[in-house]
Amino acid sequence: MSTAKKQYKRVTVKSLVDMKSNKEKISMLTAYDYTMAKIVDQAGVDVILVGDSASNVMAGHETTLPITLDQMIYHASGVIRAIHRSLVVVDLPFGSYQSDPKEALRSAIRIMKESGAHAVKMEGGSEIKDSIKRILKAGIPVMGHLGLTPQSIYKFGTYTVRAKEDAEAEKLKQDALLLERLGCFSLVLEKVPAQLAEEVAKSVSIPVIGIGAGNGVDGQVLVLHDMLGMDHEFNPRFLRRYADLKTIMTDAFIQYNKDVKSGDFPNENEQY
Ligand code: KIV
Repeated sequence: MSTAKKQYKRVTVKSLVDMKSNKEKISMLTAYDYTMAKIVDQAGVDVILVGDSASNVMAGHETTLPITLDQMIYHASGVIRAIHRSLVVVDLPFGSYQSDPKEALRSAIRIMKESGAHAVKMEGGSEIKDSIKRILKAGIPVMGHLGLTPQSIYKFGTYTVRAKEDAEAEKLKQDALLLERLGCFSLVLEKVPAQLAEEVAKSVSIPVIGIGAGNGVDGQVLVLHDMLGMDHEFNPRFLRRYADLKTIMTDAFIQYNKDVKSGDFPNENEQY
């Protein structure tokens, strides 16, 4: 029997469910602009998440709460212009879907219409089920997000591992089943014990994509700036650095500065 993986010319929400059935792991990275998204797409990463982590890594806010719907649409529009293959999922930002299902639908429609995104992501389980239902009913694919949900940071108080206690783990399991039942095509599990994450992934037919949730799930997501090593001060245990761009970029900037100051740049071949 052939073990060759199916090649997906374009990744769709259906491809992700197929990947889970075929036991093919799903790769997902964040991106927030055209140039980065182009590189991520061309590298063959399955899903690009225009995460509200843009609030942290692009705008320098301490939390994800301040980013607005207009700003998410701006980031997503650039990403969409860059991609040929990846599925693009956009976070509904804090305050754009929690108050009522009609507002949630209006926000999701704006993201789809104004950026051209393929799906939205929303944090929470039973608390937001009516909003998820309303959005799904309009034909917009929804990715769920459980475990550590950074939009609720002031409720949790810290960014530590979630669902270590039985009651919270049980609610998370029930929420995952609910998201599947409602019709979400996938869900993110953030910072929960690996054993619990694996149990959840086995209990649902939709793909579970983990961040700090171990290897027993159906795929992995990382924040682009973190995996590229652009911030040496952010060192959570789950993070694997695939490059040290901070050092590479700093060296380049130092050299450029020296070359300009010394008059070495530009040389004869670098002028008209
Ligand atoms: O906003 C984001 O980058 C996310 C990932 C951490 C999953 O939600």
